[in-house]
Amino acid sequence: MVGYKTALVTSLGALGLACLLMREPPLPSLEPDPWWGPGRRQPEEDTVRPFKIDIPKEEVADFRTRLSLPLRLTPPLERANFTYGFNSIALAKVVDYWRREYDWREREERLNAFAHYKTRLEGLDIHFLRAKASAQHPKEVKVVPLLLIHGWPGSFVEFYDLLPLLTTPQEGSSVVFEVVCPSIPGYGFSQAPVREGLGIKETGQIFLKLMKRLGFEKFYLQGGDWGSAIATEMATYYPENVMGVHLNMFGSMTAGAIAKLVLGSILPAGFLVAAKDQDKVYPLGETSRWLLSETGYAHIQATKPDTVGGALNQNPVALAAYLLEKFSTWTHKENVFLPDGGLLQEDFPISLDVLLDNVCVYWFTGSITSSMRYYAENLGSRNSAFATENNPCRVPAGLAAFPQEISYTPQSIAAHKFYDIVSYTDQEAGGHFPALERPADLARDLHRFVTAVEARQRMTPA
Ligand SMILES: *[C@@H]1O[C@H](CO)[C@@H](O)[C@H](O)[C@H]1NC(C)=O
Repeated sequence: MVGYKTALVTSLGALGLACLLMREPPLPSLEPDPWWGPGRRQPEEDTVRPFKIDIPKEEVADFRTRLSLPLRLTPPLERANFTYGFNSIALAKVVDYWRREYDWREREERLNAFAHYKTRLEGLDIHFLRAKASAQHPKEVKVVPLLLIHGWPGSFVEFYDLLPLLTTPQEGSSVVFEVVCPSIPGYGFSQAPVREGLGIKETGQIFLKLMKRLGFEKFYLQGGDWGSAIATEMATYYPENVMGVHLNMFGSMTAGAIAKLVLGSILPAGFLVAAKDQDKVYPLGETSRWLLSETGYAHIQATKPDTVGGALNQNPVALAAYLLEKFSTWTHKENVFLPDGGLLQEDFPISLDVLLDNVCVYWFTGSITSSMRYYAENLGSRNSAFATENNPCRVPAGLAAFPQEISYTPQSIAAHKFYDIVSYTDQEAGGHFPALERPADLARDLHRFVTAVEARQRMTPA
């Protein structure tokens, strides 16, 4: 045991030293004007068209027909609850609610409460919504643009309770946000690419063009899940356009960070990883076991998205089971031990209506397969999402660590990627979907971060 540890410490020490001496690699280059749409490249067309969600009535009727088909469920194992995946007794209850209580037209009206638009970028119709900063704010409060990015299995639907807290003045904040919330290509109402290669970097380039088209040369970023990965790439590639990046999911996969994480497991607490973070990170065996048991979907989606996507796109019940399982486990790890995965509990932080809105967006846009292909584009061998891991992100970063997030990254580890962490907060509660689960906490953290960045800019005039 001692021999193995000594060898490990020595080799990791050498690796760490090598990392210190290693020069920063150049950023992988990006084709500046790719064409993702069908057919031949056409001249760029820069109109921004208002868009209303209005699913044709034949499609709503078809949805209802499929939803009303008799269920073919396999009884769950005794006392298994959600430990084998979505429990079929709970699934029947969700479907019952969906059939009897859920009214798409009413929900659609709510989704149209914000102004939606589409515009063509690199051959694709890109959908986004805009939430304007309220006109009523004290004059010392500054309006700042914010690009807010969702992930999988989410959508713009995640942000409806958060947006009003961003666009109106909040106590202690010096800003209100002018929010642009796009759908990732191949998600929701954004068109999917017809050829391979559109990953997080390429999305970042499209979103930068979107912001410029809307007149925003400089802006803030916020994201979780893929939104976080896209925001991180944008902050790394375009520091002159990004004033700050706020993330509610983040990691660091630099060699130095990994060496520190592994070494930290052998060295005394507090030496490399803070004492308060020990339980969240170690033992590594346990955290990786949990990760392994919860991330099989990512492996499938990175390798055979069309197979599963083809099946899920046939029936809304199948789609709901696949997507909503994530909302169970990713809001609280212990939810797998509950018969309904927590989803139907009184105190579940997200209403069933909102959960089903999100499923309906995937359903009506038929986007499950293209949304899953995003894993293949980013995690597949051709286009590694981690290719820029060793390129630091130097713009001001605000990191909000929610305790039930899929993985926890202490500040000292995150600092290997984010060189200018302005705020790092350990949140009291919440998981992977804080905009839905804890909108007030997420809004407060974002306001505080941007207020701090703005104060710093006032102190050091350019
Ligand atoms: C499943 O839920 C039941 C009822 O709450 C509980 O008694 C049982 O221990 C749970 N099973 C697991 C594996 O946690």
